[in-house]
Amino acid sequence: MSEATTLKGLVLAGGTGSRLRPLTYAMPKQLVPVANRPILWFALDSIVSAGVADIGIIISPETGEAIKQSLYAWLETQDDEVALTFIPQETPAGLAHAVKIAEPYLQQSPFLMYLGDNLIDADLKPWCDNFSSQSSISASILLKPVDNPSSFGVAVLDETGHVTRLVEKPKEPPSNLALVGVYLFRPNIFTAIQAIQPSPRGELEITDAIQHLITSGSTVRSEQQTSWWLDTGKKDDLLSANQTVLASLARKSMDLTPELDASNTVSGFVQLGENASLTNCTIIGPVAIGDGCHLSNVTLGPNVSLGASSTVIDSTLRDSVVLDGCTLKGVQLVNSLLGYRCTLTGPAQTLPPVSVSLAEQSVLHWGP
Ligand code: DAU
Repeated sequence: MSEATTLKGLVLAGGTGSRLRPLTYAMPKQLVPVANRPILWFALDSIVSAGVADIGIIISPETGEAIKQSLYAWLETQDDEVALTFIPQETPAGLAHAVKIAEPYLQQSPFLMYLGDNLIDADLKPWCDNFSSQSSISASILLKPVDNPSSFGVAVLDETGHVTRLVEKPKEPPSNLALVGVYLFRPNIFTAIQAIQPSPRGELEITDAIQHLITSGSTVRSEQQTSWWLDTGKKDDLLSANQTVLASLARKSMDLTPELDASNTVSGFVQLGENASLTNCTIIGPVAIGDGCHLSNVTLGPNVSLGASSTVIDSTLRDSVVLDGCTLKGVQLVNSLLGYRCTLTGPAQTLPPVSVSLAEQSVLHWGP
């Protein structure tokens, strides 16, 4: 057994429950789907691929049940055994507070911590294995250069790559290297957390705890993230995350274009759900079409994720995310984000394409 398998995982899926409004009022942002899979599932996939099979999940009283149900469904998709332990956090008192309350679960194990609303394309295994084999390193953080460092935790490195300073959301950033929300720790992080005070935003910041490790002489290393990392907080972020994940699935996929009846034209990568029916459609990949969708007379793609049990008739749709259970008839949409169970009707193809962002269960008709 390699040493990396002794790492535990800690996923932070609690927080205030702030949603991706107006897309969803009923679902935590960690469960918003990209390419028809909840963001949180990508985090869990990534942790398991790093060889970690014992994972604690921080949940809040408000959204914990939804997170649990979703992760039970994710477990069904796993071939190998994965143990999940749910750890309730009564108030969202900060990332370091979440680590503190996880101590009885983590005990003396080194651990991989992952923020559950982050979407990252990285093979974490070499980084985790390296950390496991070097017990002199107290913590290691993933970094990525960004254009807007003030929105993140920011790190300063010396010429050997050691982290010398960290600041949370600085007004005047000392570098452009943002913490992407994936960390490796040893149990001395608990001592560092004991020593810090809540930040001006009232939270126990993990950034301050890592800074405390550095100040007290511990070694903190970093690794730069070279592939994509997406912040999925807003509509355009989510659409671009959808586009990037679909493109990545297309690159990794060995699947051939699914066989559809001759009334349809299909090009590029298509992820087709079970019991989906398509008639007279032009599908331009990459697209993801969920289980039980019905499409007739539709031009779909590129870069569209259509949630399960949606019906689309006489419509054109590209660069958009549509959540489950929507009905679209006679509409032309581009760069759009539709919440669960929306109904949109229009005057067929006679108007130019529109971009809309609709809350769940919206009902909209436009045109004559
Ligand atoms: O996205 C990367 C950034 O994430 C880092 O650059 C920052 O250094 C780090 O502090 C963090 O900043 P955010 O302000 O984006 O963190 P947020 O409050 O959004 O929480 C991140 C995740 O952790 C989210 O899934 C909710 C969860 N969480 C958050 C808090 C405050 C908890 O589970 N418990 C908590 O108490």
